[in-house]
Amino acid sequence: MGIGDAHAPGATPLDPDEVHGLIPGDIRHQAELNQWEQANVMEGSTWALRFRGRDFLSEGFVRELHRRMFGNTWRWAGTFRTTGKNIGVDAAQVSIQLRELLENTRYWIEHRTFPLDEIASRFHHRLVVIHPFPNGNGRHARLMTDVLLLRNGAAVFGWGSAISKLRAMPVIATSRHCVRRMPVITGCSSVSCAVSIHCRN
Ligand SMILES: Nc1ncnc2c1ncn2[C@@H]1O[C@H](COP(=O)(O)OP(=O)(O)O)[C@@H](O)[C@H]1O
Ligand SMILES: [Mg+2]
Repeated sequence: MGIGDAHAPGATPLDPDEVHGLIPGDIRHQAELNQWEQANVMEGSTWALRFRGRDFLSEGFVRELHRRMFGNTWRWAGTFRTTGKNIGVDAAQVSIQLRELLENTRYWIEHRTFPLDEIASRFHHRLVVIHPFPNGNGRHARLMTDVLLLRNGAAVFGWGSAISKLRAMPVIATSRHCVRRMPVITGCSSVSCAVSIHCRN
């Protein structure tokens, strides 16, 4: 499978300009790219989890996190997409809608508008819907959400890692439990489940 193909369900296909931005020159196959990306993402995670600055709900942090996660891999890491995707807002709207999401999320946290798990779920869902970057949005949105949870004194989500243990549990007791079990409700990716949760509201 070539690089830039939709290699996994839900993966965002890259356009040729975006594929052109690949930094390591000797990568030919998707598996090699995945491995390289994973090492880069680990570096980004380490940086994010140690970040002590106050303003993580800012465009600067959102972009810097993406750059730390993918900056050894893609030249365009940390820059917003300029092309349309099969998911995401119009490219011209990315910055505006992201700013609105960050402001809303700050408000929700300050005013405790929803339980923290629900704030994190809404934040994650909306960030994926905006889809700010050409690629890496799924991993970036999960890490952003983990930062949000940690900075507010909560544990990170499991993102499906506990699927086998939780599959038998009843669906939706309270919004808190609902969000915690989000990845197991339909056995789909956390993002799709978040979508289905919010459709019920
Ligand atoms: N139609 C959709 N509905 C919900 N989520 C989607 C849809 N299409 C893609 N996604 C989500 O977008 C993410 C894939 O976007 P992408 O930018 O390729 O991120 P990554 O490279 O980290 O996987 C995945 O988390 C996937 O679940
Ligand atoms: Mg992808």
